[in-house]
Formats: sequence, C-alpha cells, structure tokens
Amino acid sequence: MDSNEVNKLLAGFLGTVFIVFSVGIVSDALFASPTPEKPGFAIEATEPAEGGPAAPAAEAKPIAELLATANAEAGAAIFKKCQACHSGEKGGPNKVGPDLWDIIDRPVAEHEGFAYSAGMKEFSKGGSEKWTYDNLNHFITSPKKFVKGTAMGFAGLPKDEDRANVIAYLRTLSDNPKPLPAPGASAENAPAKPAEGAAPAKPAEGAAPAKPAEGAAPAAPAAPAK
Ligand code: HEC
Repeated sequence: MDSNEVNKLLAGFLGTVFIVFSVGIVSDALFASPTPEKPGFAIEATEPAEGGPAAPAAEAKPIAELLATANAEAGAAIFKKCQACHSGEKGGPNKVGPDLWDIIDRPVAEHEGFAYSAGMKEFSKGGSEKWTYDNLNHFITSPKKFVKGTAMGFAGLPKDEDRANVIAYLRTLSDNPKPLPAPGASAENAPAKPAEGAAPAKPAEGAAPAKPAEGAAPAAPAAPAK
C-alpha cells in the first residue's frame, strides 16, 4: 500500500518533469531566433540622412527671387501632380486634400468642409497663419518637415524651379491674383519700407530682436491663468 502510493507520487513527479522538459525543447525549436549577422534594420532614408536644419535649399533662394523668373504654364503641368488630391477650380470639390482655388494668402486650414489634420490646425495658429508665398514655398518643398503631422502625403518638390512654377500657377487660380512679392524685399538691401512680416536681417540700431517676432508668443510664462 504505502510503497504503492510512493510509486504513484514518484511517477507523477517524473511525468511532470518530463512534460516540462519536452515543452521547453519544443518551444525552443519553434521560436528559435538565430542571431542576425547585422543587428538592427537597415533604414533607407530617401531624404538626407543628416537631420540638421530643414531644407537648406529653400533658405538659400527667397521665393520672391524665384517667382521673378517663374513660368505659370510650366507650373500648370506640375500642378497635375497635385491634382491627384486637389482641385483648383472656383468652388471645386474637396478631394483627398482641400480645393486650392485662391490659395495665395488664404488662411491656413480654413477651407470649408475639409477635415484638416491636427498638425495642420496647429500650424494655422487658430486661423491667423496664411498661405503666403513663403509658407507655400516651404510647405511644398517638404510638407512633412514644414508642417509636422500634416496629412498631405506628398514627398515635396525639391527643385526651386518646379516650386516657383507651380506657385506661379497657383497664383493664377484666383479672380484677383495677389501681387507677386517684390524681389529683394527680404534681402539686405532693404527698400524704403520693409515688407510686411519680413524682419530685417540685421537689426538696425540693435533695437529689434534678431529673430522675427511675428507670431512668436512671448516665452516668459505669464501670470497663471484665472
Ligand atoms: C496625396 C495627396 C496629395 C497631393 C499629391 C498633394 N496634396 Fe496638398 N494636401 C493634401 C491633404 C490631405 C491636405 C490636408 C493636409 C492636412 O490637413 O494636414 C493638403 C493640404 C494642402 C495645402 C493646405 C491647404 C489649406 O487649406 O490649408 C496646400 C497649400 C496644398 N496641399 C498644396 C499642394 C500642392 C501645391 C501640391 C502639388 C505640388 C499638393 N498639395 C499635392 C493632399 C495632397
């Protein structure tokens, strides 16, 4: 009797050990993960790998200068790329993206009936930001870099000429095309009256802060809200 029970216990114990080991071996075999020769993934960036300052090319040539020699007809051909997602007619429908009629100086993220991304809404600063020539130029260079979180799934037009041409074309999509920006307005040979918003490159008498103050909220935390 006694020895019988001891045997049963032993058999039970050994059985358990056997199962545990078997499961271990089987699962090792199933989930074997050979160590890769090269650890990690190879991430191939199409954009310049060096993060660094965004779009140096755009910075190099002001849009005013580029627009001076732009060709709206050539821009119409480039606009075909945009038309995959945008219409350009007056009262045209919103497609994947909003209608772009009269886009120059139009408030950002304000076209009726279009559900903008959170990123674009933030960029609009509550409707105070507009699609100036400058903003368009930067946005079209690399949408995702200029407007973080934008839903515009377009890689961008890296070539100065292409952007200038398409912006020149966008300008024609209006009953009342906005005047072209004056070349040199933002350059150092400042004309009599400074262009709106364009802070002088070098502060005249050290009075103006070096950075354009436009839209930049004062950094200092004000008194706690009510
Ligand atoms: C793959 C689709 C797609 C393509 C191609 C595309 N866009 Fe867009 N675009 C969008 C979407 C979507 C939005 C809305 C973005 C958001 O809400 O973040 C947008 C927004 C915009 C806006 C802002 C409009 C507003 O009312 O604030 C402009 C300007 C614009 N696109 C211009 C262009 C131009 C110019 C081109 C061609 C060079 C182009 N887009 C190509 C999808 C596209």
